[in-house]
Amino acid sequence: MTVTSTRRTSSGKAAERTASPESLPPFYASKEKQRELRIQSAHLSPALIISQPTSFDEYVRQLMVPASVMDLANKASDIRFSAWEIEAIRMELELKPRKGLLRKILEEKINDDDSHPPYIRVACTGKGKYDSMARKHYGLLPDGDHADAGSPAVLEIWPAQHYSPMHSHGGTTGIIYCLTGQIDVMAYEELRWGATELGLLTLTPGQCAWLAADKFGVHKVYCPMDGGSKPVGPWNLLNETSDYAATFHVYLNEEETVPDTYVPAELGTRDVFEYVHEIEHDRRKFATYSDLSWHVLRRVLAKNSST
Ligand SMILES: [Fe+2]
Repeated sequence: MTVTSTRRTSSGKAAERTASPESLPPFYASKEKQRELRIQSAHLSPALIISQPTSFDEYVRQLMVPASVMDLANKASDIRFSAWEIEAIRMELELKPRKGLLRKILEEKINDDDSHPPYIRVACTGKGKYDSMARKHYGLLPDGDHADAGSPAVLEIWPAQHYSPMHSHGGTTGIIYCLTGQIDVMAYEELRWGATELGLLTLTPGQCAWLAADKFGVHKVYCPMDGGSKPVGPWNLLNETSDYAATFHVYLNEEETVPDTYVPAELGTRDVFEYVHEIEHDRRKFATYSDLSWHVLRRVLAKNSST
């Protein structure tokens, strides 16, 4: 069975119910293969996950993680969402009793791209495509233009069971830091459908993975939490629950990193990322943008928590 054949058709739904894990998103791999890839990720050198080592082995595997990456990870290591922020975001993902702002944005996003279940990008210092929609929804007054869309720091909100396509990050050096919930990261050898997997790991709050142009630069991200009674995929693009994970991402262009980082194999910037289309399996370019800006979302969350 191909993914295309499952695409929101009644026969597709039936096929999805009986399909083997090898033919299903997000990872198109059997349970056994996924288990092997989890074990494999624990032995990668340099390590894909950055942590405070508790053994010589872990220390040695992290020794060759570039200093610029360690700097990003160390600076992020105390960041947490507060309990009220976690709950206020959950309310905005709800379908019922009140359809939240983030749920509405997810619905808008599937009109633009129905190849995979959507997630939300929030620019920490830039502006977002749906900022004006958010202001209108909550009656917020405009508060000026905030920088450009190419923010080096992005908050990503992953509804349960939703996932990204396989993608690369334009030759940047960066981190993926889990703030709440849990998130699976599959790293690949290259940006190509069917590429060899390097390893699979789950990040929980406070854990950090990294990437550079020539190391772990291609990945796919998936939120394995409870999405409700119906499987989520190209045949059903929105989950039924408000469970989610939130991750904090930083991407530095080559000239912004300290000189001892990996030399990028191919120069690029965070303005354009490349990905593999989930349905057509071809390679495409993605001009990066954000859905919301943090200064707008934070005002929405604050207003929400006070009502
Ligand atoms: Fe990514």
